[in-house]
Amino acid sequence: MTISDHEVLVVGAGAAGLSLALELADYRRITLISPGTETHGASQWAQGGIAAVLSPQDDLEAHVADTLRAGDGLCDEAAVRFTVAHGPEAIDRLLALGMPFTPDTAPQAAYPFHLTREGGHGERRVIHAADATGQALVRTLWEQVTCHPRIVVRHGLTVVELLSDARGHCRGAFALDASGRGEKLLAQDVVLATGGASGIYAHTTSPAPAWGEGMIMAAELGAPLVNLEFQQFHPTCLYDPDGAPFLVSEALRGEGGVLRSLAGHRFMPNIDPRGELAPRDIVARAIDAEMKRAGSDHVWLDMTHLPVDALERLFPTIKAHCHTRGIDMAREPIPVVPAAHYSCGGIGTDLHGATSVPHLYAIGEVAYTGLHGANRMASNSLLECLVFAHAAAEALRIPEPGPNTPLRPGQFARRSSDLLPRLDDTAIERWRCQLRRTMSQQVGIVRSDTSLKRADTTLKSLHAEVTEACLKYATTPDLITLHHAVRLARLTVDAAYRRRESRGLHFSVDCPDRNVGALPSMSYLS
Ligand code: SIN
Repeated sequence: MTISDHEVLVVGAGAAGLSLALELADYRRITLISPGTETHGASQWAQGGIAAVLSPQDDLEAHVADTLRAGDGLCDEAAVRFTVAHGPEAIDRLLALGMPFTPDTAPQAAYPFHLTREGGHGERRVIHAADATGQALVRTLWEQVTCHPRIVVRHGLTVVELLSDARGHCRGAFALDASGRGEKLLAQDVVLATGGASGIYAHTTSPAPAWGEGMIMAAELGAPLVNLEFQQFHPTCLYDPDGAPFLVSEALRGEGGVLRSLAGHRFMPNIDPRGELAPRDIVARAIDAEMKRAGSDHVWLDMTHLPVDALERLFPTIKAHCHTRGIDMAREPIPVVPAAHYSCGGIGTDLHGATSVPHLYAIGEVAYTGLHGANRMASNSLLECLVFAHAAAEALRIPEPGPNTPLRPGQFARRSSDLLPRLDDTAIERWRCQLRRTMSQQVGIVRSDTSLKRADTTLKSLHAEVTEACLKYATTPDLITLHHAVRLARLTVDAAYRRRESRGLHFSVDCPDRNVGALPSMSYLS
């Protein structure tokens, strides 16, 4: 087995990991682990933009108030204020790097870049690069990262376990390459930026979602996982049973798009006075209810009010993609359906991204900072990535070396599986499908005690089968990631069951009311 030494190990190359690497590299040497050849996680699929108070007509208190309202009483107000207050400077840093935000060319424009609206926002405050903001963002950051002399990018490694010492401090990570060869990467500090857990659901807005692996690895070192039951379903993923998952940005509704039943009836105004721009939990639940009522497998998103030149200027990616799937969005409505999109829960951190495990940080979707509460407001997530990457980079500037305490052996790092047979891919795929189907059918937008108990029973036996396979067969990235995903799914079901109320993204038919004084949920690995 290879053993290597590093100063700061950053696991994940999405917006959070790339920003942190760039901001810290002038102070410490960085090793950035990117799992694929050029995988930038869910960030690269983000369409809408980055929420920040930029317009002179907007103000920080309004952004704070909208975020708290969308979070349905479970946000940590200090985290909300911290994030919102640091938003404008995060955008300034991106502008200095050359981020190609869409300009506002209107003669009366109050701010030089176009600001759109999304659900829950009372103001236009979402700055964007047309409808491919995530792609432009990771490209801008990646260009800087790859030419920085103090950042080494390691491709094709999957981190499967964090290493700790006898005091319980994080000391690095154990990773596998695609052929299952292991490497111990010892590090002074580790930053997890591995993304969320939408992959445990069958239908997602991202073609290659994360599976909660970062959350489980941190929990294995004792870090608490917070609010796992709050899984966000984006209301509008393209309904395209034969195509790859494709998000249809909320910014379309921000520019006046309306949702219609299959019969053409506009249903949102009867449900919420904010109509199509109500927070996501409300819109996704309304679509789910409408589909169940009508027995349909999608609803329509109608953009035919916008002239073709506006569609092409603001939504070129979505228009082109719809065109390849035979839909002309200028003339006909788009078929849409909710899909798993974002994990509002994650590894609990402080305002510098520090977890409860010394020398372990978590930023981006893998983390729970308190910003999102029971429901994330649109475009607050890229903002959180940037603000917390900056804050964590500040905290990590000066190394804090401790005594050279012996390393714990680690569950996977200690054993050599070279002589064990390799499990064939069909078994892994079958288990993966069972996991994702169970989560979508029983732990989706609407839950009940019965559905959660069913999920628990299925996942318990799946967990036993996958654990046995991990002992019998060679450790491969796919097998270990599945093992992590099943454990995360079980913790999610348990957190959902323990929440005896409905709030934000968690709705149970058995507990439809909100409890006064409800708190975030905490989950630990036993
Ligand atoms: C979207 O463009 O609708 C997604 C933006 C987000 O999830 O924040």
